[in-house]
Amino acid sequence: MKMPIVAYGDPVLKKVAQDIGPEYPDLNQLIENMFETMYHAQGVGLAAPQVGLSIRLFVIDASPFEEDDSQLKDFKKVFINAKITEEQGEKWNFNEGCLSIPDIREDVSRHESLSITYQDEHWNWHTENYHGLAARVIQHEYDHIEGKLLTDRLSPLRKAMLKGKLEAISKGMVKVDYKMKFPALSKKR
Ligand code: NI
Repeated sequence: MKMPIVAYGDPVLKKVAQDIGPEYPDLNQLIENMFETMYHAQGVGLAAPQVGLSIRLFVIDASPFEEDDSQLKDFKKVFINAKITEEQGEKWNFNEGCLSIPDIREDVSRHESLSITYQDEHWNWHTENYHGLAARVIQHEYDHIEGKLLTDRLSPLRKAMLKGKLEAISKGMVKVDYKMKFPALSKKR
């Protein structure tokens, strides 16, 4: 089942999300719904706050980037209770988009590589290192569970320039071909 994606301006996107445990209700169904929602919107990652749930869960399928980076072949993963323990390497710019901020793409500067500890959907713990585009997608989704958006990583000047467009998005004044929940129209859907 596809879920509406929460748009820029909703307070859930600004909250630091909470850890969950195996008692979390219907988790497998939620994960399945998040993948379905993400694929339908042609995203490579989706975090639980983007479907209105302030929990430390995000899903990634970065295989569309396989041509650019062979480590992304079959890169489909579920990250639960993730913690980035270290970021290393030089910062580099990559043009990012976000399903919660349709129609905006901005260069964002992030570290080259990272170490992350997380649980998978079977509650097994993993500690892994990533670099390049894989790290990039993880960093973007990880920001979501820390209550941050790519706009928080822009210069104050750049953000000021986008202000009108961001306000329009929060009011639903944007053309988008997946279902969204707009904070300024919160009674709807
Ligand atoms: Ni995003």
